[in-house]
Amino acid sequence: MKCPRCKTTAAVALPSHNAGFCPECFKVFFSRQVAKAIKERQLFSKEDKILIALSGGKDSLALARELQLQGYNTAGLHMDLAIPGSSDKARDHVERFCRDFGVDLHVLEMEKEGLPIPVVEKKFNRPVCSLCGRIKRYYFNKFALDHGFNVLATGHNLDDEAARLFSNVMRWDVSHLGSQGPDLPAEQGFVRKVKPLYRLSEFETANYSFLAGIDYCYSPCPYSKGASFTYYKTLLDELEYEQPGRKISFYEGFLNRGRQAFARQDEQQGGKPRPCPGCGYPTTGEICGICRIREIMGSKE
Ligand code: AMP
Ligand code: FES
Ligand code: ZN
Repeated sequence: MKCPRCKTTAAVALPSHNAGFCPECFKVFFSRQVAKAIKERQLFSKEDKILIALSGGKDSLALARELQLQGYNTAGLHMDLAIPGSSDKARDHVERFCRDFGVDLHVLEMEKEGLPIPVVEKKFNRPVCSLCGRIKRYYFNKFALDHGFNVLATGHNLDDEAARLFSNVMRWDVSHLGSQGPDLPAEQGFVRKVKPLYRLSEFETANYSFLAGIDYCYSPCPYSKGASFTYYKTLLDELEYEQPGRKISFYEGFLNRGRQAFARQDEQQGGKPRPCPGCGYPTTGEICGICRIREIMGSKE
């Protein structure tokens, strides 16, 4: 196969785009997909102050590098979750990346916040991933607001987003369907949240990271084994193999034609958020989810 841009031998095949690019043109392709997502969904502009959540994996590091190259005003935030054998490695990759590429980095240590994930895991009698996700979202938002960032960007890619959409549809989770997307606007107490890699697959972000010389962290979280999400990703990969382009059309179709209907139902269902009496975070409950976690963490067995 020949690269359609420069006619040299293609190195990265992209069946969903019916093309294959040489390494240099692949980086141009990647960059254009990110620029298209930013423009089409009006994610942010050069005036915005963007905080990028950096896990140390291929997606968030690729995102940080690409937004830096496109001239956006960015800084990174890493959350050290204190998971033995995993968090040290992730933090090390983030710190090295930021040093090598000149990205401003902030690190939040969950040990210091009193919420190290292994301790949370022991205290609660349920899978820790959803609690961990909730803790991360809380601190991403809080850190951005406290430090003057008006946009929070995460490295979620097309595979993440399509699998989440599939999972929400399987459960007809109206509330989550109403609020899923790469472009969640700011609301009282919440910073704007964006996912500029939503047009790019995991395979594409891995290739980009490799070609851009990014040394990313491979090791998956030890608590993520057997998650239903991983199974949905496999299912969607099979579908994509048989019908190239399915994932992006499923997800974009939802954004363009499905999401609005769920947003209305979501508004009717949810109450109006009020500030949590414990920490000021917006919540529809008596106290917010994180204060509730802290309460249970502080209680006796
Ligand atoms: P995941 O849920 O692990 O697939 O991560 C999705 C996105 O959340 C990543 O691309 C990052 O932007 C962000 N993220 C996940 N874990 C962390 C972390 N420990 N610190 C900072 N950002 C993170
Ligand atoms: Fe939070 Fe795995 S990253 S439980
Ligand atoms: Zn609270």
